[in-house]
Amino acid sequence: MSIAHGIRRLGVLGAGQMGTGIALVSALRAKVPVLLHDRSSEQVTKGLSLVEKLLAKDVSKGRITSEEAKEARDRISVVGSEVGIKGLRDADMVIEAVSESLPLKQSIFASFAAELKPEAILATNTSSISITKIAASAIPHGLNATSEEGKKSASRVVGLHFFNPVPVMKLVELISALQTSQETLDRARNFAVACGKEVTTSKDVPGFVSNALLMPFINEAIMCLEKGTATREDIDTTLRLGMNHPMGPLQLADFIGLDTCLAIQQTLYEGTRDSKYRPSILLERMVDAQWYGRKNGKGFYEYT
Ligand code: CAA
Repeated sequence: MSIAHGIRRLGVLGAGQMGTGIALVSALRAKVPVLLHDRSSEQVTKGLSLVEKLLAKDVSKGRITSEEAKEARDRISVVGSEVGIKGLRDADMVIEAVSESLPLKQSIFASFAAELKPEAILATNTSSISITKIAASAIPHGLNATSEEGKKSASRVVGLHFFNPVPVMKLVELISALQTSQETLDRARNFAVACGKEVTTSKDVPGFVSNALLMPFINEAIMCLEKGTATREDIDTTLRLGMNHPMGPLQLADFIGLDTCLAIQQTLYEGTRDSKYRPSILLERMVDAQWYGRKNGKGFYEYT
């Protein structure tokens, strides 16, 4: 028998492009109140103005009424940077959507375990980092990972991987840590379905299914450019028109963020020690130059 998601209030940590999109679909589609938190208030302001713009577009296209847009916007409230993670303590589930750094995620999940309700589901939107490693940090201080309470705390952690742009992409990848309970998996899956998403499941391997396949493809395209096989436009056009991809691989890398692509590729390479996942030197150099793609105006292409 399927169990309800039972999420009466959601916390979202991180108001970048992913966190903002997750807040929007949760408020509009799953109709749950959302507490949005980011350590940067500037990021929250930017995120909320994107939410308002996207809701207004849905109204102008006749997909939702202006009342539905207002209700969705009103469901999202901000937890200020001065309050911190404890401001999410009324949440029945939190979704972490910060940058791809294991130490950062470990410290966040340790705070979740210390500050939030003991029964709250703790989800991560990571694109590649081991959910098992993250779950191991979600154990309140002083408890052993093999004690009953330690196992119970880690059993609430799950990977819930959304895709960018979240309001448009229909998929959520669900990943179980070694510690994750069946109840956590079922509730997280049902929440993603309530957000209007289709769910696939993957084992906890580096990159899961999505990025274990996507990142070598993007990296090969960057190496084609590096070797001078073709211009950036011809590489992208080949894949767009020859294979009907909505974006070419270099455009897609810029869209995801070159810093994010590199972080995922490093996780894949370190996690598998397989040379097929080694990031190209050109990608490393572009990130060294702080060319991160669309988000800061320069990647393989220029954005104004
Ligand atoms: N946020 C929200 N909505 C957006 C958006 C954004 N950043 N960018 C575009 N959209 C919406 C547009 O508003 C438009 O919506 P309407 O139909 O309501 O008008 C719709 O998407 C189509 O946009 P456009 O007509 O402007 O442009 P397009 O037809 O070229 O589509 C696209 C844009 C949807 C981004 C399309 O190019 C696409 O699907 N690209 C591939 C995206 C992709 O592969 N994403 C996954 C990346 S991997 C990832 O996220 C996870 C990871 O682990 C790295």
